[in-house]
Amino acid sequence: MPALRARLTAFCGAPRLHARFLNTLSLMEHIGSRKIMATQSGVELDNDTLKHLAEESRHAFFFKRAAEKLARRKLDYGADATIAGASARAYMGRLDAGIEAALPPTRPAALPYLYMSLIVELRAIWLYRLYRDILDSYAIGIALKSVLAEEELHLSAMLGRIGEMDADSEIRIAGFARLEDRQFRIAWRAIEDACEIVAQGAPA
Ligand SMILES: [Fe+2]
Ligand SMILES: [Fe+2]
Repeated sequence: MPALRARLTAFCGAPRLHARFLNTLSLMEHIGSRKIMATQSGVELDNDTLKHLAEESRHAFFFKRAAEKLARRKLDYGADATIAGASARAYMGRLDAGIEAALPPTRPAALPYLYMSLIVELRAIWLYRLYRDILDSYAIGIALKSVLAEEELHLSAMLGRIGEMDADSEIRIAGFARLEDRQFRIAWRAIEDACEIVAQGAPA
């Protein structure tokens, strides 16, 4: 955590690199929203899930807009405009695959989506709280308050629905959180490595 805090703090003094980090968060929010769209688009798609989808899409837009404002140019999701973008994609993909594989075939159809969202929300809330405090202390002009409030509501909504569907939720959440922790460490290490490479080259 100290290393992560130091990295987030360093971003605040390196606008070009910071823009790429914000754009990487945008990419992950976008992947999250796309997964909801891809897996929940059946006849059972309800209002809560549509709202969740809309909010994750908005988070992707929010981070992209903040990234472009800092970068003062348009940013795609390519390698030069993200930080370890491929690792961010792999983090989401491995989590999704791990959760999918661990649930029994007889599970309710929405359960993998609910667990995936829950596990990602736990990390997002942890990271965004840290990041919010750092952004606020550097007066960067990026306010995470409303994104964070929405992630907190998603978390409690997911917990509520999982509790209704799965009697083994406590044990499963603990297992998925361990899986996520391993994958997050790998992804963050890739971000650190990419930042080191940038630091050795052009100024950020
Ligand atoms: Fe989000
Ligand atoms: Fe969320």
